[in-house]
Amino acid sequence: MLSNLRVLLIISGGIAAYKSLELIRSLKAEGAHVRPILTKAGREFVTPLSVSSLAREKVHEDLFSLTDESEIGHIRLARETDLVVVAPATADILAKMNHGIADDLATTALLATDRPILVAPAMNSRMWENAATQCNIANLKSHGVMTVGPALGELAEGEFGIGRMAEPAEILLAVEAVLGNPLSGVRALVTSGPTYEPIDPIRYIANRSSGKQGHAIAGACARLGADVTLVTGPSTEAEPLGVSTVHVETARDMLRACIDALPVDFAICAAAVSDWRPESVHGQKLKKGQAAALPANLRLVENPDILATLAVRENDRPKLVIGFAAETHDVVAYARAKLASKGCDWILANDVSAETGTFGGDHNKIHLLTRDVESGVGIEEWPQSSKRDIAARLAERVARVLGAAA
Ligand code: C5P
Repeated sequence: MLSNLRVLLIISGGIAAYKSLELIRSLKAEGAHVRPILTKAGREFVTPLSVSSLAREKVHEDLFSLTDESEIGHIRLARETDLVVVAPATADILAKMNHGIADDLATTALLATDRPILVAPAMNSRMWENAATQCNIANLKSHGVMTVGPALGELAEGEFGIGRMAEPAEILLAVEAVLGNPLSGVRALVTSGPTYEPIDPIRYIANRSSGKQGHAIAGACARLGADVTLVTGPSTEAEPLGVSTVHVETARDMLRACIDALPVDFAICAAAVSDWRPESVHGQKLKKGQAAALPANLRLVENPDILATLAVRENDRPKLVIGFAAETHDVVAYARAKLASKGCDWILANDVSAETGTFGGDHNKIHLLTRDVESGVGIEEWPQSSKRDIAARLAERVARVLGAAA
């Protein structure tokens, strides 16, 4: 079911547009709200009246329509949705999407949206196989755009080949995979926040982590239906809804709580765990002048590495173990090394040098490194975006790998 989920459906100009009417019908039958945008070319294939009758919504067509802008501007149109679907997606709209061209309402909304995008390409097989289209689609995918189809079959011109738009039922399945609890029945463990390593009852060693990213990830996974345990160090972030949250202080407590949460299907270690802790904790507040309080006498020992520990568990290793690599320079190179040394499957690498404002801030820029036994390390560049959007994107990415297997 897609109850109360919102889909912005862009119908561009291809003969397959008639199938989009059936898609609207099936999305509505599943409980989704469908807001349609019809391009000028799309209007040559289906009428605004048929689209709006099925969607029971106004059809948006014109970027410069005064009534549209006064009722709902194109930015709101692009953002007030859970998913943007482009069906059919012509070679032309894919090229515009890849190059950031925004010359009508549909392409402007696509450029302005911060929501996930699913495209259902439909075109003649030569156009599909053309290097330009293949390059556009590969780029769009590397930016996180999801695709369904095209299929092999008879094309409008009487030719046979690849280029037919996926059937509405298949597009619906793809929409459900993104929006409809694809992580239902999947167990997740997320770590978040800093850890506090006590020196005495008053003082501790910590770092500037806010917990924003980890908490957002826990919430995003729960929204996709996962059964999430969030193990968090001290953070002022609100506990995400629908998540069972365990509060800890030290790295060793965090490790214990993580092991208690096993078995899980996937683990995302977003916590900025303190690498060291004072060797001994003083039972009473240290006083000025006490030798043991002098920094030179503050002996530190290494904390356990939670991510690496989870990645080498013998009988209950999560299927997917995901870590972060916060670096101030040579971000990807360090992340690549960390992927190997920690034994995890994915690393989200981010630049936390002071000028980025990432640590403690609201935004992040991610390079996703994935390790695959057969194809080696893959790297995806994600655009700079809010931690909330990164969380949603990560949860969807996990859902695509694990959701189908659940
Ligand atoms: O080694 P480094 O701290 O850069 O590695 C970062 C990744 O390892 C993050 O995913 C972090 O949550 C995890 N980590 C951990 N336990 C530690 C140190 C880091 O789980 N003691």
